[in-house]
Amino acid sequence: MKYRVKDLSLNESGKKKIEWAMDHMPVLAKIREEYEKEKPFEGMNIGACLHVTPETAALMITLKAAGAHVRLSASNPLSTKDDVAASLVKDYGIEVFAVHGDSADEYYENIKNVLEIEPVVTLDDGGDLTAYLHSKLPELARKVWGGTEETTTGVIRFRAMEKDGVLQYPIIAVNDSKTKYLFDNRYGTGQSTIDGILRATNLLIAGSIFVVAGYGWCGRGLAMRAKGMGARVVVTEVDPVRALEAVMDGFEVMPMEKAAEIGDFFVTVTGDKNVIDLSHIEKMKDGAILANSGHFDVEINVAGLRKMAVSIEDVRPNVKKYTLPDGKRIYLLAEGRLVNLASAEGHPPTVMDMSFSNQARAVKYIKENRNRLEKKVYTLPDEIDREIASLKLHSMEIEIDKLTEEQKYYLTSWEEGTH
Ligand code: ADE
Repeated sequence: MKYRVKDLSLNESGKKKIEWAMDHMPVLAKIREEYEKEKPFEGMNIGACLHVTPETAALMITLKAAGAHVRLSASNPLSTKDDVAASLVKDYGIEVFAVHGDSADEYYENIKNVLEIEPVVTLDDGGDLTAYLHSKLPELARKVWGGTEETTTGVIRFRAMEKDGVLQYPIIAVNDSKTKYLFDNRYGTGQSTIDGILRATNLLIAGSIFVVAGYGWCGRGLAMRAKGMGARVVVTEVDPVRALEAVMDGFEVMPMEKAAEIGDFFVTVTGDKNVIDLSHIEKMKDGAILANSGHFDVEINVAGLRKMAVSIEDVRPNVKKYTLPDGKRIYLLAEGRLVNLASAEGHPPTVMDMSFSNQARAVKYIKENRNRLEKKVYTLPDEIDREIASLKLHSMEIEIDKLTEEQKYYLTSWEEGTH
């Protein structure tokens, strides 16, 4: 067994966290039960680059139970839980390459180690493993059956690769399944981002002006939760349809340039660069708090802020104070990296249950359809969404109605109209 974790003796607390997560992931447990019996991934090597959390551990354990040989590296150096990594190695025999706080070089060395097993399926969150494989190991990329992508940012990268004609194997955009983005992106990001901000700052959201940059599914969830906690929520957007939705959902909408002048909290969830730039920071109030919940740490111009500051000081865990030449203080949370994973525990297992059930189904889908799939980005069929939603409802002991034969016929016919 090969691995690189901080300290194997941390495994006890990691194991408890993994067990807690698995206890709250009933859909994945059902799939694991099925895979344990049928061993659909027997003999398959699977390489994953995901946040090393208890929820990811549950997915890795599922893939191993299905017969796969799995190697895992972290998709963000600050989201790695070292005790979980230790337990995966020591208690579950899964090879992990991840240490909390790894440098960029170590991060890519971990990915390199994962790719050593020559995976036939890759699992990615943000696209770094897949992009590395394409650019550094093109021969190996050509042998891969297919890959999955967990997040919006990664899907955007892979669609760009498809458009440029450089994608070497099919990608399943797990992010684009309804049972993923409607729940994980909305309720997961909504709750875990607030959680990260609260753990870092211990400040009151009620009565504050809370600026959400981006009104995708993550932004929607975050705006909704901030409003629920009593904030005056301001949304900034570039897409007119989304901006209009935000207005009609009851939020104030304005350009960042204006929002910068009034906000107490600023959170970026756009997937794009320099959404909070120096020109905005210059306009902010003393004490403004900046955080990012988008995948990469590019949404806030942190490098520029660092240059602009006359002093930088750690004031609390995950809170850095930047003092500007005029004496104004700007607080940056979690270095502008994913605040929900760096300063809290990421999305709860209850919601990752559906995301990672989609991942488990996506790997099976790749295996079963590998001779048919082209070098394109695909979404999973609707029936998988329906299966996962049904299993989740069942686990919550919620029943729903069934169409009668008459209703089924009505929905597939055209003759009957105005009576
Ligand atoms: N992304 C967001 N939250 C996560 C979690 N808890 N585990 C893995 N990936 C995540």
